[in-house]
Amino acid sequence: MQASASQYDAAYAAWQRDPDGYWREAARRIDWDRAPDRILDPAAGPYGRWFPDARLNTCHNAVDRHVASGRGGQAAIIWDSPMTGRCETITYAALQSRVAKLAGALRARGVGAGDRVVVYMPMVPEAAIAMLACARLGAVHSVVFGGFAAAELAARIADAKPKVVLAASCGLEPGRVVAYKPLLDAAIALSPHKPDRVLVLQREQSAAALEAGRDEDWSEAEAAAAPADCVPVAATDPLYILYTSGTTGKPKGVVRDNGGHAVALRNSMAMLYGVGPGDVMFTASDVGWVVGHSYIVYAPLLTGATSVLFEGKPVGTPDAGTFWRVCAQHGVKAMFTAPTAIRAIKRDDPEGRLVAQHDLSRLEALFLAGERCDPPTAEWVSGLLRKPVIDHWWQTETGWPISGNFRGLGLFPARFGSGGKASPGYDVQALDEAGQPLPRGQGGTLAVRLPLPPGCLPTLWQADDRFRESYTATFPGWYNTSDAGVVDEEGYISVMSRTDDIINVAGHRLSTGAMEEVLASHPDVAECAVVGVKDSLKGQVPLGLVVLKSGVTRAEDAICRDLVGLVRDRIGPVAAFKDAKVVPRLPKTRSGKILRATLRRIADGEDYVVPPTIDDPAILGEMEGTLKGVAR
Ligand code: COA
Ligand code: AMP
Repeated sequence: MQASASQYDAAYAAWQRDPDGYWREAARRIDWDRAPDRILDPAAGPYGRWFPDARLNTCHNAVDRHVASGRGGQAAIIWDSPMTGRCETITYAALQSRVAKLAGALRARGVGAGDRVVVYMPMVPEAAIAMLACARLGAVHSVVFGGFAAAELAARIADAKPKVVLAASCGLEPGRVVAYKPLLDAAIALSPHKPDRVLVLQREQSAAALEAGRDEDWSEAEAAAAPADCVPVAATDPLYILYTSGTTGKPKGVVRDNGGHAVALRNSMAMLYGVGPGDVMFTASDVGWVVGHSYIVYAPLLTGATSVLFEGKPVGTPDAGTFWRVCAQHGVKAMFTAPTAIRAIKRDDPEGRLVAQHDLSRLEALFLAGERCDPPTAEWVSGLLRKPVIDHWWQTETGWPISGNFRGLGLFPARFGSGGKASPGYDVQALDEAGQPLPRGQGGTLAVRLPLPPGCLPTLWQADDRFRESYTATFPGWYNTSDAGVVDEEGYISVMSRTDDIINVAGHRLSTGAMEEVLASHPDVAECAVVGVKDSLKGQVPLGLVVLKSGVTRAEDAICRDLVGLVRDRIGPVAAFKDAKVVPRLPKTRSGKILRATLRRIADGEDYVVPPTIDDPAILGEMEGTLKGVAR
């Protein structure tokens, strides 16, 4: 398997020499209603649009074409749910029939091409069926992760303005049933936009009360519907909107188009993951995140592969061997998860005894992404599995890896701590503050030369200007990843940290700015800062530091408990905000900017330089005392 890098170098050079030719060739793997004549229109959109004259249907490519080519009896989705003790296989033929019926039900409720549908679902097959049913009609889905609170869901409903919401009655977390419907009702009440209809998938663990006139039982609606056919759309039409954390409380609506997405994802499966038709892929993430969109649902299905959809946790459902059991039982060839999941497994099964209980002979590689992977974790799992462990780097915005190691191109030697080399399609450079590419080996802001490749966001939902401000204004001609890192002499890219207020908690991307907005809304809080501090399991966890208004007499403990509750209620349990501290003052520059990066360094016990613009250097000593031992 370990080959020279020449195949990768040749593929990368071929793309550099002739990007249009590279993507024209990749586009041949997709079934088009009208094949692309033009590959890139550089004048359209904020930086260009891919396949501007082509037409296709993504659901046809993910489902119907495989039935037509004889894969109807093959498993499309294996739902493995240790949370319920159930395991079910859905063949491509069964998937086609369910998706067509649900699409028919949506159409009967007024959903057509371009209309939005919000999907608020746990890890059940209906989540994928919902996404595909929207794609079938040319409608635009927006999946919202179940761990968000009502206010976050409301913000997404208000922005996407869905005609219909598809939801389950509940999700299952270890030890508790999360009733989704009350959260959804609260979100709809908060949102100025109201959906016409809500279809509720009633789960046996907790059925939801349905509101007459608006809510309907999903299964009844699906059963009664006439199946709908695939509706061809323009390659540039949106397939989905996925909201992700920005630096403010208002999430960014990342848009994915139909054509570029299908081409890029299909291309990535063979090139990066080494997964082809009939192979089994297991991506342990959630359909609410980009990793779930791309590598639980779309890429495996566009490929005619089998995708394992797992409802459980890496540990405790029932034990730290659950991932290995899934791999063995379903003959998984490629597995993908976040480093935090591996750290959790390592914590519970440090000797890796549970691995030995399962036959992993068919597993060929483990892929890790979502956060920086610390080398000890990669080394531990690589020693245990004795298979390639591939760290690869990407973002919600890009939809597929910016960098990685490429099983379809002969792997180059892994270097733990690095996210591999740039994927063909991406010219990645570390830039200095003036936007000039730095010599190899020097750290800076990682940026991708425009145009971004197919599959990446063409813009933000109805917000071209916000797209420009967020991604292309700082370094004209480049997409700013807001990740800091280095590209070394041989092209290995190491991503070290974010350059903005985003933190990564257990592979989940969260905005400290959004948490600060919540803390600042507390009546006793005068000012605050939220920083991400090191956590040996989750990578980072948020820590809130608050200064109280003068005259506040309530006990600090009670105020901190309020703050923890507020963040859980407004952002959701996924924020993992469990720690707030009252401080007499915060370190600031003379112009009043809070020195968050310095606070983070102090909290993490790292060396720091006293910022020359600091208002009062003496405060840093105070902070060292307050923050001692907060990093775990
Ligand atoms: N619906 C409702 N609540 C949810 C949820 C969902 N879909 N997902 C998570 N939560 C809740 C959890 O129950 C937990 O609540 P608690 O504070 O009451 O315990 C909170 O959100 C934090 O959840 P999580 O981040 O999952 O932490 P954890 O402590 O429960 O588990 C890990 C730790 C490492 C096992 C877990 O984070 C994990 O599996 N991580 C994998 C990350 C991943 O797949 N990332 C996707 C990017 S690739
Ligand atoms: P998300 O949009 O939720 O996928 O989060 C994207 C962010 O996660 C990136 O901007 C990085 O900061 C971080 N990230 C993702 N994958 C990696 C990786 N392999 N190495 C380092 N950081 C990563």
